[in-house]
Amino acid sequence: PTVHFTDAEGAVRDVQGNTGDSVMETAVRNGVPGIVAECGGSLSCATCHVFVREDCLAQLPPMEDMEDEMLYGTAVDREDNSRLSCQVRLTDERELFVTTPETQV
Ligand code: FES
Repeated sequence: PTVHFTDAEGAVRDVQGNTGDSVMETAVRNGVPGIVAECGGSLSCATCHVFVREDCLAQLPPMEDMEDEMLYGTAVDREDNSRLSCQVRLTDERELFVTTPETQV
């Protein structure tokens, strides 16, 4: 699966990911700036915030309460399409488009 990361300036990076990995892991492994992921995916830092393109939202599993709560602590305010990228896993058929916020801290 491919993840297309767009940064706050509009620069796009297309990254090949592995099924089962999170979007956050995929970003970190490929040196995508804009994802800090301080806690390494344990849902306690909210520095892996991404905005998911609207037409990709429906393919994602609904968020758990904990992710929802953590999204109130992001550096850039959450929007309706906000997710924490450590909680979004890649599937075979999934091609994902996300935008990283201007800052994570
Ligand atoms: Fe820390 Fe996602 S990496 S909450």
